[in-house]
Amino acid sequence: MTRVAVLKGGRSLERQVSLKSGARVQDALERLGHDVVGIDVGHDLVARLRDAVPDVAFVALHGRDGEDGTVQELLEALGVRYTGSGVSACIRCADKVLAKHHMRDAQIPTPDFFAFTETAFKQLGAADALPAIEQRLRFPIVVKPAGQGSALGIKFAATPADVPGALVAAFSYGDKVLLERHVRGRDLAVSVLAGEALPVVEAIPREEDFYDFEARYEIGRTDFVCPAQVADEVAERAQELALAVWEVLGCAGFARVDLMLEESTGELTVLEVNAIPGLTETSLLPQAADAAGIAFDELIERIVALAPAVA
Ligand SMILES: Nc1ncnc2c1ncn2[C@@H]1O[C@H](COP(=O)(O)OP(=O)(O)O)[C@@H](O)[C@H]1O
Ligand SMILES: [Mg+2]
Repeated sequence: MTRVAVLKGGRSLERQVSLKSGARVQDALERLGHDVVGIDVGHDLVARLRDAVPDVAFVALHGRDGEDGTVQELLEALGVRYTGSGVSACIRCADKVLAKHHMRDAQIPTPDFFAFTETAFKQLGAADALPAIEQRLRFPIVVKPAGQGSALGIKFAATPADVPGALVAAFSYGDKVLLERHVRGRDLAVSVLAGEALPVVEAIPREEDFYDFEARYEIGRTDFVCPAQVADEVAERAQELALAVWEVLGCAGFARVDLMLEESTGELTVLEVNAIPGLTETSLLPQAADAAGIAFDELIERIVALAPAVA
């Protein structure tokens, strides 16, 4: 029997999703016979970890603090074994701009982009560069905060007049914003477990013109198809790209890579990597694992077993 601390909740905008992921993980760990303690991550995290003395921490946090290396750094400092990627991979994945630079340098296709901090606009007149950017990326342009998840703050700007508002909205989530070429096509995701790609999932929104935050978490508003109905070569290529990104960003344990399959060209591009993808009833990784014959409890057991020993 292992004593597992499940870290969940926290102060990120994805708190509610994390609470669901965490509760589901806790149930699975209890069924598996482990000694489980749930910790809603807050000011007393270090004290609670010291009290709990876990053999391993299952990090079921999403977004800020939990997925960006902050909590991982604390766990390292306390010498607590933990699930998923290490500090540096979390930092690279949590910052979409940094991740895209790594991809571009490694020749992994990712939609063309430019990124700016708020300082560039306030101190360097970056707004004057917008026409040049718009010409290169063409409309519609996707504007998104570099450090957010769950489609929060993402806007599609259809004309130059839409860009300033989209930038302001994105800057309300953080000080770095990404302007990205819009890819018209299908939303695919490849989850990776222990360096092996799981079957491709396609997310098909029912009503919204894009796969938005609400659609993602309200059961029944997005259809998930797994394995995705795509040609074998497309599925293989998506898996190959996912593994390439996993390697480049230095992920460990598990992760989910989000891709677009462009309608007009059939080209696959990588949007981002989620270091701690959702583990709720409607989340993609559990669905992909299931399609690969790995039931939820087994998935959780494997993620725990994959946590590296502490130095
Ligand atoms: N460049 C893009 N072209 C077309 N759709 C996009 C683009 N970027 C994001 N989207 C849509 O928004 C969703 C969320 O974007 P993503 O970059 O994965 O951020 P996150 O999931 O962290 O919010 C994608 O799954 C896709 O549906
Ligand atoms: Mg995504």
